[in-house]
Amino acid sequence: MKKRSAIFMINMLLSMFMIASCDSSGGNTTTKTLRDLADNKNIKVGAAVNDYYLSYETAYSNTVAAEFNTLVPENVMKWDTLEPAQNVFNYSKADTIVQFAANNNMYIRGHTLLWHAQLPGWVKSAASTNRNNLQSILENHIQNVLTKYKGKIYAWDVVNEVVKDDGSGLRCTTDATPSIWAKNSTDDSLIIAAFNKAHAVDPDAKLFINDYSNEQYGNAKANKLYQLVAAWVSAGVPIHGVGFQLHLLEESPPDMQKVRQNIERYQLLGLEVHFTEVDVRIKTPVTQTKLDHQAEIYAALMQMVLDHYSVNTFITWGVTDKYSWIPNYFAGYDSSLMFDSQYQPKPAYDSVINLLQ
Ligand code: G3I
Repeated sequence: MKKRSAIFMINMLLSMFMIASCDSSGGNTTTKTLRDLADNKNIKVGAAVNDYYLSYETAYSNTVAAEFNTLVPENVMKWDTLEPAQNVFNYSKADTIVQFAANNNMYIRGHTLLWHAQLPGWVKSAASTNRNNLQSILENHIQNVLTKYKGKIYAWDVVNEVVKDDGSGLRCTTDATPSIWAKNSTDDSLIIAAFNKAHAVDPDAKLFINDYSNEQYGNAKANKLYQLVAAWVSAGVPIHGVGFQLHLLEESPPDMQKVRQNIERYQLLGLEVHFTEVDVRIKTPVTQTKLDHQAEIYAALMQMVLDHYSVNTFITWGVTDKYSWIPNYFAGYDSSLMFDSQYQPKPAYDSVINLLQ
């Protein structure tokens, strides 16, 4: 552990020295941000963002604009916000984010169209009527949302978290965490309908299926998702990639070699992999050793982006530890992002910067 920390400190010092470079007038130093370095390598580096903080917290909006070239709405492109009542669409919060991205010349990933969570009551009630009705409700939602944002969103998480955690099939109506979108664990008809509809409305958007615990080759859930995706690809379903959310734990990161193997099997299918919701939560108390280890995990992920042409997107699920979802959902965990709660870059940030320059 001591040796690892020493090597890490040397890397940090080297990186601090190297990113401070002379500008053309000589003398003054300029510091390249994450965004500057990612732009140079055609990498989309982004964060899930909240419309309210973008509008009202300058430290938040300044950090986002300086450090990222890609945004994902953390919540406001979900169904309960966009279509709270049937055929009544409310785009105002999503538009705040789309406008911020346009003002700052940023890309947007859309999240998400078919998911079991953050659904309004009226959709759940409709699901208990007949299946054709549910399909037309789904297609109408996709028709409206993708028409509205056509040309503004380069990739959509069309489908989110549909595979059961034990990898035994699709999350369905009888599951412990039920989904209205599959009547049994093999019913993928509405998933396919969602991809077909999204492609028909916005043929230029890259269409993704996104999930957690799907990154490690050999894991039952990862393998199940791969089998499903491979079958859809061979059936001609318009799917262009798989999102690895990567909500990781500092104390037990995945086997990075197996993550690479997983990327490579999707690459062989002709698909992209996006890192869509990266965070690495730390069990409190947070120590320097844990932060340094977290930094190594962030760097190992970014190294995969550099090493694979099929991985070009690295999104963190939040901007600052101040507003991360982690402490609310996992008691005793914190500090999962690259910026701390005062917007100061952490070792994770430095390690990624170090790799990108
Ligand atoms: O909007 C209401 C607000 O009116 C109310 O006053 C407040 C009281 O708790 O709740 C607000 O809703 C919250 C919502 O976020 C918007 O802030 C919900 O309680 C809260 O549960 C919800 O959490 C979101 C979660 O998805 C819901 O499943 C998190 O912010 C969001 O980070 C999280 O994101 C998901 C991805 O979409 C999919 N992958 C996993 C990831 C983390 O769970």
